[in-house]
Amino acid sequence: MTSPNKNNKAYTIVVGNEKGGSGKSTSAIHIVVSLLERDYTVAIIDLDARQKSLARYVENRQAYAEQHNLKLVMPDLHVLKRADGDSIQKMNQEDTEKFSSLLDEFKQKFDYILIDCPGSDSFLSRLAHTSADTLITPVNDSFVDVDLLAKVSPDTYKVEKLSLYSEMVWEARKIRAMKDRGTIDWIVLRNRTSALDAKNKRRVHEVLTELQKRVAFRYVPGFGERVIYRELFPKGLTLVDFSNNNKEKMTMSHVAARQEIRRLMDDLKLPGWNTPKINAAE
Ligand SMILES: Nc1ncnc2c1ncn2[C@@H]1O[C@H](COP(=O)(O)OP(=O)(O)OP(=O)(O)O)[C@@H](O)[C@H]1O
Ligand SMILES: [Mg+2]
Repeated sequence: MTSPNKNNKAYTIVVGNEKGGSGKSTSAIHIVVSLLERDYTVAIIDLDARQKSLARYVENRQAYAEQHNLKLVMPDLHVLKRADGDSIQKMNQEDTEKFSSLLDEFKQKFDYILIDCPGSDSFLSRLAHTSADTLITPVNDSFVDVDLLAKVSPDTYKVEKLSLYSEMVWEARKIRAMKDRGTIDWIVLRNRTSALDAKNKRRVHEVLTELQKRVAFRYVPGFGERVIYRELFPKGLTLVDFSNNNKEKMTMSHVAARQEIRRLMDDLKLPGWNTPKINAAE
């Protein structure tokens, strides 16, 4: 199978946001399985070595497939831990070396690499952001989440200044440009949008629409608030699996959720996604 990337190296997707619980790991597993279903090879690097949510999702998936005799597409999984040591400088150096060699190895072996970041600032997370070809930032549909991207006037809801996370991405873009003249396609998606709170929904939409021009991200519709996203974790399943897995019954909410995933995958504009794949063996 040919790589989706021009230079035959894996394309790197980083899912990051310093805000905890915004839907990074949930988005990540759905993107990974969508890519695997298209026969791309995918390696996951889970940088959240404390919670390991994405790694546990994949482990649950493996166990569920074995218990139910199912053939489920599986990514390659790697959890990267922060180095131990008494000097920050040494730890940073060790982490940089470990991360770079892992990335170099995976770049040769896979079509896509997906890096899931923890919900807080960390050295490894910053490093990962500088290597992103696409950066995906899910934000919950609330001004508490938007606050990490920009300070918003409480009276007019106008963007007043950029916040910590946007500044960090700005830095990552500069480092990336210096390293290999690469660019980062930054995508902000809204998660857990509710049909009930129309006023808040509209305001968050207006702020993100204004902000996307100032910070240079693409703001795309993401996922609605749906119980199914919480229920899938113990089985390690995603909505992408449902069509191939007759054991699971589809409800209207599942169908709508699957549409959201498909829409997101199109919106990401990943290399090769919208064109038929060419197999090397053909
Ligand atoms: N669209 C959604 N509807 C309902 N529940 C959701 C949705 N997205 C995520 N969740 C739930 O919200 C919780 C947090 O999601 P998730 O673990 O994906 O966030 P995260 O950003 O990876 O968190 P962390 O920062 O802790 O790594 C989980 O229980 C998940 O099942
Ligand atoms: Mg997570």
